[in-house]
Amino acid sequence: MCGIIGCVSEKDCYGALYDGLKRLEYRGYDSAGIAVLGEKLEIFKKKGGVANLSAFYARGGTGIGHTRWATHGAPSDTNAHPHRAGKIALVHNGIVENYASLKEELEEEGERFRSETDSEVLAKLVARAYRGDLLAAVREALSRAEGSYAVAVIAEDRPGELVAAKYKSPLVAGKGAAGLFVCSDVPALAGAADYIAQAEDGEFVRIAGGEIFFYDKELRPLPKTFFRPQRELCALSVAGGGYFMRAEIGEIPRALRDTLGLLKQTDFAPCARVLRGAKRVFAVACGTAYHSALVFADVAEREAGVPVICHTAGEFRYRPPLIGEGELLIAVSQSGETADTLEAARLAKARGAYVVAVTNIGCSSLAALADFCIVMGAGAEIAVAATKSYNCQLLCLYYLAAQLLFFKEQRYPDWFYALDDLCSAAERAFSCFAEADALADGLKSARAIYYLGRGLDLCTAKEGALKVKEIACVFAEGYPAGELKHGSLALVEEGFPVVCVSTSRALAKKSENALAEVKSRGGFCALFSQYGDVLEDSCADFKCLLPALPEALMPAVSVIPLQYFAYKMCIERGFDPDKPRNLAKSVTVE
Ligand code: M6R
Repeated sequence: MCGIIGCVSEKDCYGALYDGLKRLEYRGYDSAGIAVLGEKLEIFKKKGGVANLSAFYARGGTGIGHTRWATHGAPSDTNAHPHRAGKIALVHNGIVENYASLKEELEEEGERFRSETDSEVLAKLVARAYRGDLLAAVREALSRAEGSYAVAVIAEDRPGELVAAKYKSPLVAGKGAAGLFVCSDVPALAGAADYIAQAEDGEFVRIAGGEIFFYDKELRPLPKTFFRPQRELCALSVAGGGYFMRAEIGEIPRALRDTLGLLKQTDFAPCARVLRGAKRVFAVACGTAYHSALVFADVAEREAGVPVICHTAGEFRYRPPLIGEGELLIAVSQSGETADTLEAARLAKARGAYVVAVTNIGCSSLAALADFCIVMGAGAEIAVAATKSYNCQLLCLYYLAAQLLFFKEQRYPDWFYALDDLCSAAERAFSCFAEADALADGLKSARAIYYLGRGLDLCTAKEGALKVKEIACVFAEGYPAGELKHGSLALVEEGFPVVCVSTSRALAKKSENALAEVKSRGGFCALFSQYGDVLEDSCADFKCLLPALPEALMPAVSVIPLQYFAYKMCIERGFDPDKPRNLAKSVTVE
């Protein structure tokens, strides 16, 4: 998704902006641009990578930069940000939902637009409102906008000044040796800012006179506490080069260990009353995080007997809102900035429900909004494909399900103490990689793959399918093994690949039946199980033994060879696993 950065420095700010944009690259983008205010206001913007901007240099201490992920208007030099109007240059992350009517109105008043973007409308509005007071002009302009925004704005006649504002898109301010900053996220300020402060919705940030000021929506000054960012969120390089995704898979045992350590220090007492009394629990998330919510729903229902209604956050928002007072919403998000998940949490809060967030970013918008926040210790996840954060989300959600039972019945589930073994089981799962290499080698030309599972294994199948779709660009579907013959079997023919995850003894025979149906139509079957006898008795062509764990915990480990398999498929097919096409790391628009 789009990323914004702004810098006011006593020295030239170009280098700090360029480095910041490089650090924003991981969010996903298709064009980039920089505006620098020196003797005059200069803008350089280009379709393609941030590296294209290195052909440009301008002297000046005040500037803004942007990585654009196209929403309104194709990726192009003209649609790239910053947008200029009069004395103003502006970068924007978010969507101006009423831009069409605003644009029409402005065109009727004689304005001419260069780009197809919604963001240029904001630049025009600020320029028209600007009479020497940049903060007032930004406020006036944004009062007309509907939708979401984080903007950073400079004016040609105000060197040393920058104004930023936020509504439903992330924005932080930071102080460091190289200058004062505003930025879309904390990891992108790594190395640049030693202290950061979070802007809330409706707030304004002004950098002027070598200081950072915050204001509320009426422009009343706001006190803010600056804090040191979580150190582990700032690790933005892969030791020895290579891909982030591969490194992040390798970090899973460490991430699980750190997350368990954090969970053991977390005091769940503040939400005991809600956990004890919750008649119904909702769980919402998007993408990979949604798959972890599915695991939670299964485990919590089974263990604590509490019905858990699980929705993708985007669907939850637009259903008749069943959630209400005394009920509990669990919102899961690695970034804590996913627009749909945030909105779902806001909706639940507005209806009087209690919101528990599970996130990797303790200073995220979701963490700030939640009544109770569980922060995992995955560390910075840079690759767009979520890997280690998924395993850590699962660990947090197992812990939460165990608390649900504990506060109801003063006992923990049988598997609770085996959570201590997750980290070593994850390490043992790495021994499946050689087999996953061979599987990827055999399937690299596949046009589609079915992933089958039952019960908890279905969640793993869905996550495995999402991963291979996302980075290896192979169509894949995670499907209940028992449903195959109700439709999908029609596609199975000679060599059609089917990956089956079967880690439940009670369901193993049922899943095997599905594999037999595939085999008898000439399909190719790969089976992952923690039981040697299940593998031995199977008709599968490819068999992989997973580390043994209590069945409830298997999703946190059985997914690891599938994450690695997707990575290998991606490499074999010649794609970049860290930057899948069309996708962004943090989806901050609806
Ligand atoms: O930051 P979040 O966990 O809220 O992100 C949710 C999804 O966008 C994310 O999990 C996405 O599906 C991943 N790229 C999948 O690998």
